[in-house]
This record gives sequence, C-alpha cells and structure tokens, in this order.
Amino acid sequence: MILGVNIDHVATLREARRGTEPDPVMAVSLAILGGADGITLHLREDRRHIKDRDLKILREIVPVELNLEMAATDEMVRIAASIKPDMVTLVPEKRQELTTEGGLDLIGQKTHLKEFIYRIHDSGIPVSLFINPHIMDVDISKELGADMVEIHTGLYSNAKGRKQEDELHRVTEAVKVADKVELKSNAGHGLNYNNVRKVAAIQGIRGLYIGHSIISRAVFVGIERAVREMKELIQEESQKR
Ligand code: PXP
Repeated sequence: MILGVNIDHVATLREARRGTEPDPVMAVSLAILGGADGITLHLREDRRHIKDRDLKILREIVPVELNLEMAATDEMVRIAASIKPDMVTLVPEKRQELTTEGGLDLIGQKTHLKEFIYRIHDSGIPVSLFINPHIMDVDISKELGADMVEIHTGLYSNAKGRKQEDELHRVTEAVKVADKVELKSNAGHGLNYNNVRKVAAIQGIRGLYIGHSIISRAVFVGIERAVREMKELIQEESQKR
C-alpha cells in the first residue's frame, strides 16, 4: 500500500505571512526521505496555499508519484496538460471551505466530469475521482471512465464507536465494489496516527493520501520522522492482511 503525502499544509503556513518559508519544496524532499511513495498538492482556483511555482518546481524534482488535486475547470485542465503530473485527482472546490469537505457530486455533474476526464486523458494523465463512500458513486466513476477513485474517509475519521464502525463498513464496501468493477481504489481525508490502522487493513486499497496529521506531527518531530512513523503503521497493517 502506498502513502501519498499531501503538502498543502506547509504552503498554508507559508501563506500565513505571504513569504517564502516554510517552503513546500523543501518539505517534499524530507517527506521522500521519510518514505513517501507519492506527493499530493491541491492547486486551488484562489491559490490560497499551493502556487503555480510550487507545482512547476515539484514536477521537476519529485521522483515519486506526483498527484495534482484540482477542480474540473478549463484553467486547471490547461495547467495539468502542460505540467503533466503522474495523476490528477478531481475534487469539488468551494471558496469558503477550510478543506475539501465532501466527495464529488457525481450525479449532478455527470456530463461535466465525463468531458473533463476525457480531456485529461487526452494529455495521457490517469484520473482519480474523490468520492463519498457510496457504492453508487463507485459505479458512476467507472461509467465516467475514471482510472481510480479516492474514497472520502472524513466521516469515518470524525465518527466514534459504533458510528465509526458503520462508516468503516461503508468504505470497505466501496473498495469491494471498486475491485469488482476493476477500478483502483485509494482513501483519504482526516486519517491520523490513531485511526489509520483500520483503513490500512482493508483488503484491496491501493494507497492512502494523508496530510494534516503528518504535517502536525512534523512540527514536533520533523517531516522525515513523521512520514516514516505513518508509513510504518500502514505497512504493519497491510502486511497482516
Ligand atoms: N484527499 C483529498 C482529496 C483531500 O482534499 C485532502 C485534504 O487536502 C486529503 C486527502 C488529505 O486530508 P487530510 O489533510 O485530512 O489528511
């Protein structure tokens, strides 16, 4: 199972002073030393954290999978076509949100998404869709021509006790269906050092995409160690399967 590290949060800190530090480019080198199998960055329409400059430099220096998270807009498709990340993850984007709040509205945006997936494929880039853990959304993702899905684990991460088990079950069922229809499945959002094990234990998940908890721990122990500790947890669980 791969670990993709989301480095937007380093850029958020930089933008708190609109300066040059901490530089996400430096953070990425350390994350890779810590064992990151992939690097994710979300270029938002309002450029509130990651900038075009970050994406350009990272495309040149990142030797592992570079995952560009973006909204399905003309501007972003143009950028993806010129930068050529290793994959694109399409996410919904709202200006006011603190972070991506939910999966894509697949039913409401079927035609729009289908067209954008086609256009991104035209540049030779695989496409993942960030979806809610609903079986129907996995089926629609397949129908739209996506290569992968990333299943939203936010509800699982925020829930407790019995409710958390229910949410885990939803994620597990979505992964099973993805497997059946031959879609690769990833998961992410809200995963941390306490709740990651149960998701890492799900049979069939290709990778986990994690940002906030790793960068939070990195404030105390450094990025390299924070990534290594997360990677160890994930590997321990996935090797038990
Ligand atoms: N996956 C997607 C699609 C996201 O938008 C985010 C948040 O930027 C993450 C994963 C990582 O979430 P977190 O920062 O809560 O680990």
